[in-house]
Amino acid sequence: MRILKGGVGFFDSGIGGMTVLAECQKRCPGEFFYYYGDNKHAPYGNLPSEKIRRFVKKAFRRFRKLKVRAVVLACNTVTALCIDELRGQYSFPIIGAEPALVEGAKRGGEVFALVTRATYTSDRFQRLLSDVARRYPQSNVTAYPCDLLAGMIERHIFDPDFSYVTYFPKGTPNSVVLGCTHYIYIKEEVRGFYQCPVYDGNEGIAKRLCSILQKERIENKRSHKKPKKAKKKVEKKRFLRIFFLGSGKKGNKRLYEQMFAYKNR
Ligand code: DGL
Repeated sequence: MRILKGGVGFFDSGIGGMTVLAECQKRCPGEFFYYYGDNKHAPYGNLPSEKIRRFVKKAFRRFRKLKVRAVVLACNTVTALCIDELRGQYSFPIIGAEPALVEGAKRGGEVFALVTRATYTSDRFQRLLSDVARRYPQSNVTAYPCDLLAGMIERHIFDPDFSYVTYFPKGTPNSVVLGCTHYIYIKEEVRGFYQCPVYDGNEGIAKRLCSILQKERIENKRSHKKPKKAKKKVEKKRFLRIFFLGSGKKGNKRLYEQMFAYKNR
């Protein structure tokens, strides 16, 4: 299949970013997307940062060839490690995924933030954690690196009977923040286990992407730029809205169609 140029790129180590893509597809109708999942190397959470950077660079070279208008790093781990460097290298907008710590902290009390090991040890996340602690002294945010969880979700996503509770940190928090896009698949299980509100950042990312694309449309109108031909074609063929790329493209397409596509029609 010929891949049209000029869409919006999404990147994740594997399946997690599709939860973000689904939210964005719902909120930005008429756009078309690339989903690059590097499932062969997932999970990234316990890999050395140099390896992660190398894999991400490969995906971005592909995005550049496809003339993307924006990229969503639908992965907290990659955002924590690479976003500053990528923003310095590429001129298109890059939107990151960051744990919604503020949402949890606003409620006050004990907040559990579940993240990958690589996110946990990153300077960016540690800065976010101290910033939130300073701004919301009425809450106590504790971050937990969940070493095996993303890998388990990647492996057992098609098994509805698999239980993840042994991978959850013990305690009785007032809220839980999911700091990895893989964990969003098991949001209900997390809620059931802790019996408290559970937050993720997907809605915020989708709103941010929509506003960037909206701004671009206004600027194009002002400068009388014609809409891209590729986009017109896609609007006719609505089923062509997502192009799956990367080592996990077949499995990701199947999973997306099974879990999200029907909801976004
Ligand atoms: N989904 C990713 C995240 O948000 C990565 C998980 C992993 O590969 O370890 O952090």
